[in-house]
Amino acid sequence: MTARKVHLVLSLTLLMVVACNADCELRKNFYKKSCPQAEKLVRDITWSKAQADPTLGAKLLRVHYHDCFVQGCDGSILLDPVRTNQSEKNAVPNLTLAGFDVINDIKTQVEQACPNTVSCADVLSLAARDAVSFPFKKPMWDVLTGRRDGSISLASNVAGNLPSPFADFSTLAQIFSKKDLNVNDLVVLSGAHTIGVAHCGTFFRRLYNFTGKGDADPSLDATYAGFLRAQCPNPANPATTVEMDPQSSLSFDGHYFDTLTENKGLFQSDAALLTNQGAAKVVQQLQLPAAFFSEFGKSMKKMGAIEVLTGTAGEIRKQCRVVNRS
Ligand code: HEM
Repeated sequence: MTARKVHLVLSLTLLMVVACNADCELRKNFYKKSCPQAEKLVRDITWSKAQADPTLGAKLLRVHYHDCFVQGCDGSILLDPVRTNQSEKNAVPNLTLAGFDVINDIKTQVEQACPNTVSCADVLSLAARDAVSFPFKKPMWDVLTGRRDGSISLASNVAGNLPSPFADFSTLAQIFSKKDLNVNDLVVLSGAHTIGVAHCGTFFRRLYNFTGKGDADPSLDATYAGFLRAQCPNPANPATTVEMDPQSSLSFDGHYFDTLTENKGLFQSDAALLTNQGAAKVVQQLQLPAAFFSEFGKSMKKMGAIEVLTGTAGEIRKQCRVVNRS
């Protein structure tokens, strides 16, 4: 190759990298030119749905987390199974997810306003923030946009990427670190359990015969264990749920961290945050409400950027439940 050709190839490569840098990163208000009304539309619909269902924030926040941890924040959690191919939705930890209908509704309306423009992954990320923010009437954290939608959703990808509620500290830290999230992010994001509910089965083993001597988990406050046994008698009704942050499960606040220090964290994975010195220190710091809000925003930004598809990767799905036809 002549020197001139080499120069041309290098310049073109550089140009592509530069063009991609502008387009291939998440940024604030990505749809400013292509669909200026997108973010307001998502917010308005989400707020009207959150008014009708105060538990929506918890539902969508969990769906967003489960999307990001499996195959990145690419909307793969929103895909239905195709024939015999089980999608992420079919995997056990995802069977209790809810709010898919809301995302589908929002997407339909956004699609009417701006066809082929706004990704399902972005709709989910925005709607999760907006549903949690509804009681505050202002956005509780910034959401960068520009994600594109993936086309792969496999139930078999879920195990190992989403920690179980029985996980110990090192397992939690390991799974989070694979997503470029550190111990601080692990503790901060666990604070999402300040809202929402859990089925008895997710903490049942802590209440009955934990060490084989007919006892409860000694790391669980004894009075609280008694309260939980009353909610979830043995044998448990699989449909019964309890508030994760007792008497505060609709309010997005730092109360979860008070609960933790009182040994009333519901899951073993919550209690595990006190078993590591560094994590326990973060738990203490987050008991200040202002600290929790500001840290939660930062960690959500990191979580919302896990393995995102940008630029020309992936597609903009027309419907969140199915990939576009090629
Ligand atoms: C640290 C590891 C985590 C584990 C082991 C875990 C596990 C669980 C489990 C077992 C449930 C109850 C599900 C049910 O029975 O219906 C739950 C609920 C929930 N999780 Fe997590 N989670 C973790 C981290 C997160 C993160 C990072 C977020 C969000 C940023 C989150 C948000 C939620 C929310 C909002 C709910 C309540 C959902 C509802 O009420 O519908 N979790 N989690």
